[in-house]
Amino acid sequence: MDSIVVRGNGPLSGQIPIAGAKNAALTLMPATLLSDEPLTLTNAPRLSDIKTMTMLLQSLGAEVQTLQDGRVLALSSHGIDNLKADYDIVRKMRASILVLGPLLARHGQAIVSLPGGCAIGARPVDLHLTALEAMGAELDLRDGYVHAAAPKGLRGGTVNFEFASVGATENALMAATLAKGTTVLNNAAREPEIVDLAQCLRKMGAQIDGEGTSTITIDGVDRLSGATHPIVTDRIELGTYMLAPAICGGEVELLGGKRELLTSFIEKLEESGVSVFDTENGLGVRRGNDGIRATDVTTAPFPGFPTDLQAQMMALLCTAEGTSVLEEKIFENRFMHAPELMRMGARIDVSGGTAKVTGVEQLRGAPVMATDLRASVSLILAGLAAEGETRVARVYHLDRGYEHVVSKLRSVGAHIERVQDA
Ligand code: EPZ
Repeated sequence: MDSIVVRGNGPLSGQIPIAGAKNAALTLMPATLLSDEPLTLTNAPRLSDIKTMTMLLQSLGAEVQTLQDGRVLALSSHGIDNLKADYDIVRKMRASILVLGPLLARHGQAIVSLPGGCAIGARPVDLHLTALEAMGAELDLRDGYVHAAAPKGLRGGTVNFEFASVGATENALMAATLAKGTTVLNNAAREPEIVDLAQCLRKMGAQIDGEGTSTITIDGVDRLSGATHPIVTDRIELGTYMLAPAICGGEVELLGGKRELLTSFIEKLEESGVSVFDTENGLGVRRGNDGIRATDVTTAPFPGFPTDLQAQMMALLCTAEGTSVLEEKIFENRFMHAPELMRMGARIDVSGGTAKVTGVEQLRGAPVMATDLRASVSLILAGLAAEGETRVARVYHLDRGYEHVVSKLRSVGAHIERVQDA
């Protein structure tokens, strides 16, 4: 296993290019299952999760080629010969459940392993299943698999999500494109990745209205064609790297950054004393001269503060003047970075879904452990601000969601390297 070693840093300066969104790619790739014509995705990020989704689609009989050094994904599913998504792949990545809706919609049958929990929570898929049942799917849960059937095809229906689930919205949206009749998704998630999926499906011939709002209406069509689609910028990678100059000073330009992808997060950054400004090629971030002020954060579905940036924001607030209260409302166990930050001298009091962070003058480098994707990068950010050396173990978590994190941070002056553990 590898570790990442970070040494406390002076101000950063330079530019960081932001890649295509992991969480858009992971729903756009299964969309190939809806059509027998080629789907080409450009601006693809080079991540281990993309490789896992590639393996899953190939196990179903789809063709997936990675071109231009992984930046382009050429997919085709005219040759689907297996409708079962096996546990040994699904358990590696929860997003595997996103093949369920498309397989069912186009082939009338699917057997998909239940994803099982993960480090940040139980993460059931009940909202995915009730949505598909509202479109006429017959579901049978047995031996750890969802056995889904729609022998006469799916039919349009009304889906009322009790929670604005991102994945359930994506599964239902994809399935509805080929259902007979009109489907209405109420309390749908509004994330930019869903807007990106809808735009790609529309290029494939889907009839969709309302993406980005809480109500999405889809008129089913008989078949979808192929398309070529650029994957939207990764707003979570963007927010993560915006925090680097915020936490250790300096000024960095995030190439491809767009303010509208992160309005709530940017509001909080500005509240804490960081200045964010538009540049010709993206967004600029500069830490103010009078340090970082405490601010309160509550995570919420888009357009609220993203749960995927909570751990990273906590790292910044550990160095703020004053006490900040962070409330994690999306996942039931997403503070595992707190004990690791406390090893670096942070003062954090966690109680249930609330973490009270009292800023300290100086964090101190220490050996720490990554527990999940976003927690791992919050420890690196803390290491940039800490005095001395921080060694983050189990960085395979990082490879799931951040391409070339060492070279990107080193390019703006960070003292960071990846080492092989003995
Ligand atoms: C997506 O996960 C993202 N993953 C997550 O990013 C992100 O944190 C999450 O949305 C929230 O924004 C991908 O897009 C691949 P949800 P998803 O369905 O779809 C509960 C990262 O770091 N729930 O909105 O799984 C669930 O348990 C990852 O990139 C149900 O109860 O999120 C969770 O508590 C982490 N029943 C909450 O809703 C369901 O059927 C949010 O889940 C579905 C979800």
